[in-house]
Amino acid sequence: MDFQHSHSDSARTSATHPPEKHRIAEDKLDYSNEPNTRPLPNYIVHCHTPFNAEPQLPLLVNSGQITPADVFFKRNHGPIPDIALDDHKVFIGVQQNPQYYFNAESPSVEWRQLTMHDFMTKWPKATITASLQCAGNRRDGLAAVKEVKGVIWGAGTTSTAVWAGPRLCDVLKDVAGVSSDMLHEMIRDFHVSFEADDHVHEDVCYGSSIPLRKAMDPAGDVILAYEMNGKPLSRDHGFPLRVIVPGFIGARSVKYLQKILIQPQESMSFFQRHDYKILPPWVNHDNVDQSWDTAASLAEMNIQCVICTPTEKQVLASSKPVTIKGYAIAGGGRAVYRVEISMDGGQTWAPVDKMEQHPDKKSGMYWAWALWEKTVPRMNKSTEIIARAYDSSGNVQPEFPIWNYRGVMNNAWSRVHTLPALQHHM
Ligand code: MTE
Repeated sequence: MDFQHSHSDSARTSATHPPEKHRIAEDKLDYSNEPNTRPLPNYIVHCHTPFNAEPQLPLLVNSGQITPADVFFKRNHGPIPDIALDDHKVFIGVQQNPQYYFNAESPSVEWRQLTMHDFMTKWPKATITASLQCAGNRRDGLAAVKEVKGVIWGAGTTSTAVWAGPRLCDVLKDVAGVSSDMLHEMIRDFHVSFEADDHVHEDVCYGSSIPLRKAMDPAGDVILAYEMNGKPLSRDHGFPLRVIVPGFIGARSVKYLQKILIQPQESMSFFQRHDYKILPPWVNHDNVDQSWDTAASLAEMNIQCVICTPTEKQVLASSKPVTIKGYAIAGGGRAVYRVEISMDGGQTWAPVDKMEQHPDKKSGMYWAWALWEKTVPRMNKSTEIIARAYDSSGNVQPEFPIWNYRGVMNNAWSRVHTLPALQHHM
């Protein structure tokens, strides 16, 4: 694993160092240049600083397989940076000596510096259709059980886009000389950490990591995206460059990418070590600080299915059939195998009428969600509609939410209660 073996032009750019970063206190973060200042009717805005918003569920599902950027959920931990394309540099390094692994700036790391022009011209552009889902999707269901920490999201933090940019495996092979032998011991043991050119109060910047094996697997489809739905990324979604890690929780798809470091362990970032974990059920506000190491950092998503229309407490005309619509998604490239609906509290189930999910054309992996629908006869009384999905490995959603303090990975059966028009007017 030596830069001597690198062979692209970019690998010959002068050795350099990423800029020094300092942590900024929450009340000192600068939100004076945010992009989302006008009213946004498509969204439920949970917080403006940082900007956190999810689309209305009927709009999300009715937008189709590919979610337009102005419907796609937006998840931020700090101010949205305003980065000039021509000035942006991305630093790539390998930690040669594990003894320095707590200090990314140690002399043992030899950095390479790349421009956006490098990413746009030096490697083939891969186009991957992938859903992103925040691990906090449906946190409201866990908050209803007991207090949780985090933005109380509904079920709208899942969206799908067509992302484009070079494959991370191609870049790492050329710039950092990483082997393409998937059984190489470094690929087995190491991780790739990502850091953003932004500020958050929890750490010096947003950061995260994925196993090197996922990054180097050509069928893992990890890309460094500079385009979303055929256009340059918007500031919200990571301009000028972000990682897209298909099949993993959205937290690993780091936006405003500035630093990529191959290292012998997971990122030390707050967002890898002290967040995005399913803490055990005995962990709460009082003992959380000592408990982070008891849970694994989340990576692949679990099986998920959500009813998007009708919506909770929607009044339905009793004379007409009702079309139920929703999305389902499985982690790790697994297919959504079946979506089932129950109208009697889960005693009996019936399959949906229609389901559409497309695998990636090259890798055959299912990175994008399935959209489904089912039409049921008219409902003339209050009704609970339940949906659940199975993935291709036989994983199925649990009947009830499984509480955890950070309120992540809630994938309990999706339930919607509808009201008859008559009762509404009484
Ligand atoms: N990258 C940076 N730099 N800052 C962030 O706050 N949030 C992460 C991830 N990457 C985040 C980030 C989380 S938790 C999610 S779910 C996705 O970005 C959301 O991506 P989106 O805002 O494009 O929907």
